[in-house]
Order: sequence, then structure tokens, then C-alpha cells
Amino acid sequence: MSIAILGAGNMAKGLAVLFAKAGYKVVVGARDLAKAQAVAAAAGHGARADGIAAAAKSADFVVLAVPFTAAAETLAAAGDLAGKAVIDISNPLTPDYMGLTIGHSTSAGEEIQKLAPKAKVVKAFNTIFAQVLANGGRAAGRPTTVFIAGDDASANNAVEAIARKAGFDVVQTGPLKLARYLEPLAGLNIALGYGRGLGTDIAPTWNVAPAKAA
Ligand SMILES: NC(=O)c1ccc[n+]([C@@H]2O[C@H](COP(=O)([O-])OP(=O)(O)OC[C@H]3O[C@@H](n4cnc5c(N)ncnc54)[C@H](OP(=O)(O)O)[C@@H]3O)[C@@H](O)[C@H]2O)c1
Repeated sequence: MSIAILGAGNMAKGLAVLFAKAGYKVVVGARDLAKAQAVAAAAGHGARADGIAAAAKSADFVVLAVPFTAAAETLAAAGDLAGKAVIDISNPLTPDYMGLTIGHSTSAGEEIQKLAPKAKVVKAFNTIFAQVLANGGRAAGRPTTVFIAGDDASANNAVEAIARKAGFDVVQTGPLKLARYLEPLAGLNIALGYGRGLGTDIAPTWNVAPAKAA
């Protein structure tokens, strides 16, 4: 099973490391090949680098690991994503990171689905700080939760399997419009981490019986 990670920043690196370690074939696709190569080298386990289009074409899953404002350009560069699960990790943040630019009646997840109507967009990982990924996916020494929202049940389940294999707990929330809640949840996480000064070794979770979370 192969995963293309589009972007070569902090989240791309954190996810590449965890997915490669979990046994997935990782390809990092970025507009700057040298940056993609550095992330692939950090991930090891056979991870490789490529351009955005080639990476997306070659993989079963595509992670969009760029700012929400760059989603349209990156999706255009990725080419045909028909039928593919596209994991949207973005938060539509204001420039000072202390607010959201859209919400209530839509979400970044839904806007990305509109940009790639034939893809199966799955919201996931948006509530987890990059520094938590760099700490092996744990916050305050405890496992963290990946919240999933998407309209295609099989894509949601496949992303759940990836997240669990990478060591995360998972709560499936419902259809993609539940991203309208998940993005403000990430906003609260940022407000606590940076605004209230709790730092980045934190993550939201949900107390729910494991059998009911999936
Ligand atoms: N950081 C976090 O803790 C965190 C947590 C949860 C979710 N997220 C979300 O994860 C996503 C990535 O965040 P990050 O922290 O990894 O950001 P980052 O470190 O700033 O990296 C952003 C990446 O996107 C690339 N990029 C920017 N504009 C692009 C464009 N027009 N076309 C192609 N690539 C472009 C950048 O490429 P260049 O290097 O060439 O500029 C870079 O590789 C964002 O949507 C963010 O909201 C972040």
C-alpha cells in the first residue's frame, strides 16, 4: 500500500516518518525536489521523493500536506485524482493562526472536495500538532486521536487502518461536513498551545469505548 505525501514541511515530515515506519511505501511529492528528498531521507524505510504529479499518480492514497491556501494549486499540480482517497489535514487559519477563515456553513475539507470532486476526501490528522507527530504521535506521553470525517465509508475505514497502524487511536465522526467541527477543534488546540501557552505537547481526544469509535 503506497501513500503520497504532497508537501515537504513539518506535517509532511512527521507523517512520512510514521507511515514509513508502519510499513507503508511512502513517496514525498513537492514543488522543490530537494526538500522532498530531505523528507524522504528522514523517513527512511525506502521512502522516495518525486514531483507532485508523479507522486500522486503512483500512490494509492494522497495526503495533502500544504497550507489550505495552497490546496487548489497543489491539487491542480497533482492531476487526476479520480477514485483516490485524498487525506486533507489542513486548517483554514488566519495569518496569525488565532482564527479560521471559513466555517459554520463549509469547511476546508468540503472546499477541497469541491476542488477534487472525483476524489474521496477524508479529513484526518488536522487536530494533531506536527511536534506531536515528531514525538512518535504521542502527546504528554499518551497515544493521540485521529478524528476522521468523510463521505466514503471505505475510504474512511482505509484511513482509519493507516492511522491505527501508525500508532494512533481513531474516532470516526461522520460525513465530510463534520470537518466544520474538526477544524475549530484544531483551532482550540492552537489557542491552548500557543494562546494559553500550554505548548505543543498536547492533543484533543475523546473518551469513547474502543468498539464504538470506528
Ligand atoms: N504544523 C502543524 O502543527 C499542523 C497541525 C495540523 C494541521 N496542519 C496543517 O498541515 C498543513 C501543512 O502544515 P505544515 O505545518 O506542514 O506547513 P509547512 O511546514 O509550512 O509546510 C508547507 C508545505 O507546503 C508547501 N507549499 C506551500 N505552498 C505550496 C504551493 N502553492 N504548491 C505546492 N506546495 C506548496 C511548502 O513548500 P515550500 O517549502 O516549497 O514552500 C511546504 O512544503 C497545513 O494545511 C496546516 O494547516 C499543521
